[in-house]
Amino acid sequence: MIKKLALSAFVAFGLSATGAMAAGSNDTHVEDFDFPFEGPFGTYDVNQLQRGLQVYTEICASCHGLKFVPIRTLGDDGGPGLPEEQVIEYAKQFEVFDPEIDDFREAKPTDHFPHSALENAPDLSLMAKARAGFHGPYGLGINQFFKGIGGPEYIASLLTGYTGEEKEQAGTTFYENTAFPGGWISMAPPLYGEDVDYADGHSNDLHHIAEDVSAFLMWTAEPKLGARKQAGFAGVLFLTLLSVLLYLTNKRLWAPVKGKETT
Ligand code: HEC
Repeated sequence: MIKKLALSAFVAFGLSATGAMAAGSNDTHVEDFDFPFEGPFGTYDVNQLQRGLQVYTEICASCHGLKFVPIRTLGDDGGPGLPEEQVIEYAKQFEVFDPEIDDFREAKPTDHFPHSALENAPDLSLMAKARAGFHGPYGLGINQFFKGIGGPEYIASLLTGYTGEEKEQAGTTFYENTAFPGGWISMAPPLYGEDVDYADGHSNDLHHIAEDVSAFLMWTAEPKLGARKQAGFAGVLFLTLLSVLLYLTNKRLWAPVKGKETT
């Protein structure tokens, strides 16, 4: 029995390893960034989320929306954690359409971020999950468990993956990008490095800015990551304890019966 179990576990691991190899052999290049929220005990870094929010606001928001994200969640624990007054101030820079007054008005924290301003720019709320898979959808999910889902890696690699080549096709300019499937994307390089000035003095080279905004987009896609991991950990702990107790109870209950057999 044990032998059989060991064998199937071995085969399953073997399959996941070949899956990972297959994932690496496509023509796009995604770099493995080291995000603080990866791994079973990883959590969001508040400062990084705040820097990412700044990058999104100053650069990406001119084209991309975050329509599924309520502005008030910027103040949530486990997120960027802005103080309440700052969230109110932050909301004021956006205009939203209010059907009640049939007109546009300043956004309030209870509103969501606006939709994409540019028609063909996709909404970024869930992008980090939509583009997950760098660590592979294959195997037992062990890779995702330890290294994260890979969506933010893709976004960061996309932002740093421009080669500088461009071409025009049917009136649209395409930019060569090593991370984008197909190799040519219609988004002009949005970042060059030193695009924003961070208040906390963190490095603002291209690599770091791309990493920060990708971490922020992971938070928009998975705002309750910390709470989920905690609940999962408590669950595993509880089940382990329960298993030990049940095992001991079982031993105790059967002790008289089994004891008789041996005598
Ligand atoms: C000038 C407008 C503009 C700006 C600014 C901009 N984008 Fe884009 N973005 C686009 C367009 C247009 C597309 C669709 C490209 C395509 O599908 O060819 C796109 C696509 C994307 C995609 C999806 C790629 C995919 O796999 O489909 C991501 C992710 C993205 N942008 C992230 C960002 C981030 C992060 C920023 C800020 C640092 C940003 N963009 C700034 C216009 C913009």
